[in-house]
Amino acid sequence: MPAALGSRIYIVALIICISYLHPSITITQGAEARARSLRHLISKNLFHAMFLHGDDTACPAHGFYKYTSFIRAARSFPTFGNTGNPTTRRREIAAFLAQISHETTGGWATAPDGPYAWGLCFKEETSPPSNYCNSTNKMWPCYPGKSYKGRGPIQLSWNYNYGPAGKALGFNGLEDPDIVSNNSVIAFKTGLWFWMTEQKPKPSCHDVMVGRYVPTEADLAANRTAGYGLVTNIINGGLECGIHNDSRVNDRIGYFKRYAMLFHVDTGPNLDCEYQKSY
Ligand SMILES: *[C@@H]1O[C@H](CO)[C@@H](O)[C@H](O)[C@H]1NC(C)=O
Ligand SMILES: *[C@@H]1O[C@H](CO)[C@@H](O)[C@H](O)[C@H]1NC(C)=O
Ligand SMILES: *[C@@H]1O[C@H](CO)[C@@H](O)[C@H](O)[C@H]1NC(C)=O
Ligand SMILES: *[C@@H]1O[C@H](CO)[C@@H](O)[C@H](O)[C@H]1NC(C)=O
Repeated sequence: MPAALGSRIYIVALIICISYLHPSITITQGAEARARSLRHLISKNLFHAMFLHGDDTACPAHGFYKYTSFIRAARSFPTFGNTGNPTTRRREIAAFLAQISHETTGGWATAPDGPYAWGLCFKEETSPPSNYCNSTNKMWPCYPGKSYKGRGPIQLSWNYNYGPAGKALGFNGLEDPDIVSNNSVIAFKTGLWFWMTEQKPKPSCHDVMVGRYVPTEADLAANRTAGYGLVTNIINGGLECGIHNDSRVNDRIGYFKRYAMLFHVDTGPNLDCEYQKSY
């Protein structure tokens, strides 16, 4: 014990010395500290308590969405789960995990452990209605023979999302979209990229959940007030918002309520987007 402790102190001292010489090491230490802080807010045990059936062979994605992949992916997004007070941070993580759970759910009303214990069950869309290629989009041209169907935690879809996601994250989204369902760190990164990136006129989901969203006149007229419901609007409002008692919206809310409870935080107001216009 004392020997190990001694060498640890020595290593820390060494790192401190080296970081004076190489500023980049200080940046690495920052990423390490943030990863530690995320691991503190969401432990491996909590992650497994949320995704009770992640390793169930009934789930096509079983074993794919690993806790360590999530933590590693989050290193590329230093402000995720790391903005505001601990309650805000936990609520943001719960909201993110709830939305990706709906996107990948394998649950049904009478499923074992309830419908909201089956997040992260699928990694790709099983019967896509098309290859999701919008050929009028010249900025992100489709690669022959590739499908831009839903893949990964956020079910990234369309060429105009695969292109910019790949560019931001360092892979060729147009030529190699399959990587999103083959590499779990990249998969989580696409989910976080969507969550963190503002796509005008929409704010980022992150800004909404950490209280940095400032509604425009158009937002006020459309009743787009901050809350989890607005995040749903950003993700799929065109199909789900402005509808009374939409079952998809209810599923997203059900996941969020369960996760917020596991994180010991309240959900905040405006869970629904029933009275909001979509973008
Ligand atoms: C396809 O892209 C064009 C141009 O970017 C856009 O106007 C149109 O709405 C898109 N269609 C779909 C189905 O996304
Ligand atoms: C990548 O994923 C696709 C399905 O999206 C699968 O057909 C292919 O075999 C996978 N490739 C590797 C190398 O795992
Ligand atoms: C919402 O729909 C569900 C069925 O999907 C139904 O059981 C419930 O009573 C409805 N609630 C309201 C408020 O309309
Ligand atoms: C705006 O949304 C809130 C709930 O988020 C609702 O109570 C209110 O009635 C809505 N207002 C309008 C004008 O639709």
